[in-house]
Amino acid sequence: MIRLTAICLGLAAALAPGFAQAAEGNPAAGKGKSAMCAGCHGIPGYKTAFPVTYSVPKIGGQHAAYIVKALQAYKNGDRTHPSMRAIAAGLTDQDMADLAAYYASSAVQTAAK
Ligand code: HEC
Repeated sequence: MIRLTAICLGLAAALAPGFAQAAEGNPAAGKGKSAMCAGCHGIPGYKTAFPVTYSVPKIGGQHAAYIVKALQAYKNGDRTHPSMRAIAAGLTDQDMADLAAYYASSAVQTAAK
């Protein structure tokens, strides 16, 4: 099952036109790294219930290049949200590319409402 999911993600990434990125993102690797994101950017729903119901931007289905740019902006201080800054500070370029590839390829984007 996990392997099948990985193959599907890989296929989706292969079918999507390549994004010009410095580091090549690997969605399967990104899935593994997304455990620390899931508490807030939970898929589906993209809301966290702790400590109060709190809206968190949807990142599943965003363009990989957009996600990488946002993470870099948190890391370099262009974006100032404290929790995301703390998280992005610990991510390498490769981590960002992998996470972006994973979230960009996740199928939650426009699920039936
Ligand atoms: C503690 C909760 C929390 C965790 C954990 C978290 N995020 Fe976030 N994230 C947020 C919040 C809140 C925002 C909105 C911040 C803002 O207003 O700039 C955000 C914003 C973002 C954005 C920008 C979205 C946009 O459309 O502007 C990206 C991309 C993102 N997070 C990726 C990640 C990734 C990847 C991880 C895991 C490595 C992660 N986040 C972990 C809470 C979290």
